[in-house]
Amino acid sequence: MALDCTRVRQDFPPLSSGLVFLDNAASTLKPRSVMEAMHSFGLSSYANVHRGVYRLSMEASKAYEDAHEVVAKFVGGTWEEVVFTRNSTESLQTAALTLYANGVITRGSEILITMAEHHANMIPWLRVAKMAGASVKMLPLDEEGVPRWDLLDEYLTPKTSVVAIGHISNVTGSKAPVEEVARKARSTGALLVLDSAQGVPHTPVNFKAMGVDMAAFSGHKMLGPTGIGVLWIRRDLAEELEPPLGGGGTVDRVKLGSGGVEIRWSTTPWKFEAGTPPIIEAVGLAEAVRYLEAIGMENVERHEEELTRALLEGIAEREYIEVLGPRSPGRRQGIVAFNIRGMKPDWVGLALDRRGIAVRTGLHCAHILHDALGHSEGSVRASLYIYNCISDVEKLLEALDDIYKRHGGAK
Ligand SMILES: Cc1ncc(COP(=O)(O)O)c(C=O)c1O
Repeated sequence: MALDCTRVRQDFPPLSSGLVFLDNAASTLKPRSVMEAMHSFGLSSYANVHRGVYRLSMEASKAYEDAHEVVAKFVGGTWEEVVFTRNSTESLQTAALTLYANGVITRGSEILITMAEHHANMIPWLRVAKMAGASVKMLPLDEEGVPRWDLLDEYLTPKTSVVAIGHISNVTGSKAPVEEVARKARSTGALLVLDSAQGVPHTPVNFKAMGVDMAAFSGHKMLGPTGIGVLWIRRDLAEELEPPLGGGGTVDRVKLGSGGVEIRWSTTPWKFEAGTPPIIEAVGLAEAVRYLEAIGMENVERHEEELTRALLEGIAEREYIEVLGPRSPGRRQGIVAFNIRGMKPDWVGLALDRRGIAVRTGLHCAHILHDALGHSEGSVRASLYIYNCISDVEKLLEALDDIYKRHGGAK
């Protein structure tokens, strides 16, 4: 059954004012059910988890563990593979530090990323490479800002320890050929880390089937609350690895032995969740997953594709708009970054806001990609989700015409 965006909109109170919300790649709005689940859990079932034998703590622990299970199923995994973090940035940071701390990234080894990466999937690798004495290689981009996947064989070497790529670009919306990259990475003995911050919220995902070793995504970009993200780690790998952070929750037993302090780590995923975890947020994220599952991720993906197609077709009719990334809708998910020729992105963003349309402007934490595409001052980004209807696309295009006519056209 197709997604009924008019019906979906009713679950998101800010939209009742007529707001056209097109900043979903930054963070999505929250449905009532997510906020209500957190509210009700916080008021009636909340206690710290994994620490008490009293009823409230056991109830809270059960809800927290169930959240791991719900999220795991959503990405084709098991609950032991789901580590809750604060967000994708922290997940990728944790992945990088874990692989460094466990001797996967070593002196002289290479980490392969692409020039299209969000800084969350760039800075952590540059930092651990510096710590380890390793190097970071970047796959170059084609003229549309898409990584040159055809050069993968050349860039992968026996020294490559990790390949870390974005699933869907937060600027061009282009999708990586994850299965192919996974196959090639595995054949050279490298691990594949996927930044799925823009993947999991928008497309059906099964990390295991895709051949991914570790993956990151954020709750707040998929209808869930802020303050919770996921680091998914393939189970056998998670069992092998020591965590980069220690403290309460990560250890099963600590003893003074003859050689000093002896640590027995907890099992996965708990050994990776140091300190009191995001408990109320986990309940909210599980509810967000249930909401998306009720719609069906195939429907989410198809709906976004339809809207993206309409937006790109509309833009193609307007020579005053320059699009960043592939022009053909089949090559991108629901993200379209663009510029009006001769106008600064912030200015366009403010003018859209005055017309009731929320978009993001700037460099979207992808400076190298913007420079490579010749848009060093940034871009305007419209990103779509389940509560956007075709009328939102039409309103955006009409508003852009109006802005150009009044201001840009005169230049
Ligand atoms: C592709 C990509 N990766 C990582 C992130 C970082 O996500 P967060 O801010 O939730 O850590 C973002 C956020 O915009 C993103 O778009």
